Amino acid sequence: MQFGHFDDRAKEYVITRPNTPRPWSNYLGSLDYGAIITNNAGGYSFYKSALSSRFLRLRSNSVPMDQPGRYFYLRDQVTGDFWSSSWQPVGKPLSKYKSTCRHGTAYTIITSRYSAIETESTYFVPLGQAFEYWRLKVTNKSKQPRTLALFTYCEMASPWHMPNDLTNLQYSQFITKATVDQEMLGMAVHPYHAFDPQNLMGCHRLWMTLVGAPLIGYETVRERFLGSVYHTYANPQAVIEGRCSNFLAEGENAIGTLQTEITLQPGETRELIAMLGLGTPESHGYAARAEFGTPERCEAELQKLKQHWHSLLGAVKVKTPDAEFDAMANTWGAYNALITYTWSRHASLIYNGERDGLGFRDTVQDFLGAMPMLREQIRERLELMLTGQVSNGGAMPVVAPFSHQPGTMPPPKREEYRSDDCQWFFNAIPDYVAETGDLDFYRKVLPYADQGEATVLGHLRRALEFNLERSGKNGLPCGLHADWNDCVKMGYNGESVMVAEQLRFGLATYATIAEKLHAVYCPGDATPSSRPPDHGEDAAAPAPSSYLAEAAWARTELTRLEAAIQKAAWDGEWFLWAIGEDGYRYGSKTESEGKIYINTQVWAVMSGAATPEQGRKCMDALKRDLATPYGIMLSAPPFTHTPPTVMGGVIYNHGIKENAGIFCHTQSWAVIAEAMLGNGDQAYDYYRAFMPAAYNTRAELREIEPYVHCQTTYATCNRNAGKSRVPWLSGTASWSHHTALQWILGVRPELDGLRIDPCIPRSWPGFTMTRVFRGKTIRIEVKNPNGVSKGVGSLVINGKKIDGNLAPLDRLTDGTKVVATLG
Ligand code: GLC
Ligand code: GLC
Repeated sequence: MQFGHFDDRAKEYVITRPNTPRPWSNYLGSLDYGAIITNNAGGYSFYKSALSSRFLRLRSNSVPMDQPGRYFYLRDQVTGDFWSSSWQPVGKPLSKYKSTCRHGTAYTIITSRYSAIETESTYFVPLGQAFEYWRLKVTNKSKQPRTLALFTYCEMASPWHMPNDLTNLQYSQFITKATVDQEMLGMAVHPYHAFDPQNLMGCHRLWMTLVGAPLIGYETVRERFLGSVYHTYANPQAVIEGRCSNFLAEGENAIGTLQTEITLQPGETRELIAMLGLGTPESHGYAARAEFGTPERCEAELQKLKQHWHSLLGAVKVKTPDAEFDAMANTWGAYNALITYTWSRHASLIYNGERDGLGFRDTVQDFLGAMPMLREQIRERLELMLTGQVSNGGAMPVVAPFSHQPGTMPPPKREEYRSDDCQWFFNAIPDYVAETGDLDFYRKVLPYADQGEATVLGHLRRALEFNLERSGKNGLPCGLHADWNDCVKMGYNGESVMVAEQLRFGLATYATIAEKLHAVYCPGDATPSSRPPDHGEDAAAPAPSSYLAEAAWARTELTRLEAAIQKAAWDGEWFLWAIGEDGYRYGSKTESEGKIYINTQVWAVMSGAATPEQGRKCMDALKRDLATPYGIMLSAPPFTHTPPTVMGGVIYNHGIKENAGIFCHTQSWAVIAEAMLGNGDQAYDYYRAFMPAAYNTRAELREIEPYVHCQTTYATCNRNAGKSRVPWLSGTASWSHHTALQWILGVRPELDGLRIDPCIPRSWPGFTMTRVFRGKTIRIEVKNPNGVSKGVGSLVINGKKIDGNLAPLDRLTDGTKVVATLG
């Protein structure tokens, strides 16, 4: 069943049936002003933190699950009939009510037609501003004049603190106070826990105003608007009666209802604008209204916002034979990656804002997806995360962006360290350096979270040492509190094969970086020095020749680790996941539950730990035992009898999350592994199995947004098979975008140029990509005349043939055309 379609030109997803299987949402706002809106105008807003600076309320997991929101109610003043400009909350019969929703890049436009009245409501936050526009256009399509009462509605969170707002009612209900004048409503909240990241207001204040028609009434208390505690948003008494009580809140649940009345001649359109913003009317409201409160300005701001996002997304443009793949690569995958990067695991309809820290491993992985769009802008966050690394090489599990003070943070307790956290730097940092050419970044000195400082290279060295120093009986890194899988309980000194593979990848990457630094910063100098490596408190940029010593060190460790992996972790057909402190072998053929896991197979290939034979064998086993039409299960068979002390995932039902669910985050790794092995058809099949757009015409199966990635999908062993859950904020968004561009299309930035190494389905005749790289627009065409998957046979740059498959930097100028022919 189909509920909408992709409008690729407008970069919009158009929902044509409002009764989607779940609310389908979008994001408005920026890094400072956050806002979520659904196709039925549900959602909430916050300033920087959805936890502690939340000002519009959402009752998580309520019914309907996206209410309240930002509503316009309309009432026919003659008949008394009423409805809303989004299908919900009034919910008129769909036989009489038509609606579309266009989710765009940080704006949403909802149209309705009911009773010969058409509306178009547009929601967005103008760039750099701390207020939201709700623009309403109303058109009379009937043959008579129509008089309509209009009401806005939003519900404010008191005291701007999500858990307190929803649970501490004996307190939060008594701290709001409203003011009003002819044009503006003010709402002050006097919270006990004032958290005001920028000291914007001293206390929490909002203003709200209506432009385009006179304010004839207002309501500021929810129960007064609804009229009775037994009414709902579907039938508010004020709308039923067409009249507000003009009561100023002094305590109770605060809302923003502004009422006006308009008369429309047949064919006439009126435009109204509601504005809701941060600050008092005096500090911000009047000025914002004066400057921004006109239809022309509102439209100009919308265009500016679109332009901003479209130019971000315009960094990469692809055209392949698969339109659904293109819709993801050009718009939705990129946008999803940016939103995930921005809001981490913090604010969505599922992540309801109850935590606002940056989870270490997730955040470091989130860089990958955002990299092609944000490039240099990534650096600040990257530095923040590097300063979340502890001087022993491990990491703070969560970096609190509002209170993090490098050099002064108490280090985590021993049992809190995750074993994988800093290993993700070996994906993120080289990708940043390759994208930007900022090789010098490795020499930048940054503090550790607790004490001391080191160059970025020194931080990387400590990351490797952290795991090397904490190795177990078999010479593999200990799992500590957890590896990537939060649920594997291998015991602190149990060993993680996944982390061993990551560490192998890290050591190899480190050696390559050190060699590159040597080549660039000390050409001609080939003597390794005996100077100790740079790390810890005595950090300084290392003496040039020590770079080679670093590389040699990493390669020695790598050889030793590789032998240990081969000895302890190969199970004959695939790799184990872990070896418990007590010797328990996770993911072995001798097990009846959790016999095989995806991650250690795909990472064996990605890291180079697997021999070519092992690589093929374990990927085949993965396909046989884990692949389903909806994606690859995390492990199988599901856990039933395994005690939770061994596998926490046993608490989940079979086939979801960490109990043999399809954990979408991991899918891209299988795509990368197959791409590395040269199997373009298989890589692509795995990609499409979890690609949201591939489900657009059967959206009832997946249920969530067909333009959004998700954390997890029910596997075939569960009767919810195919249903996806936890949309928007997940490592899936980041890795899938990275994988589409760098591994399927295979255009990989490297320090010295663009590597062109696609691995595509054999049936593709080719594809094109236009990509911004180091400030230049490069046009790439890949031709596949012989129907192969991989292997560039010829590379032609601006008409000149080049050896190999690297388009070197010195040949790339703005507009350069690169033609690669496969086979
Ligand atoms: C969630 C966590 C992530 C973890 C994964 C597997 O997605 O956010 O950090 O790796 O679960 O347990
Ligand atoms: C964390 C992760 C979640 C995982 C859980 C397991 O909450 O975010 O994905 O299922 O840990 O303990």
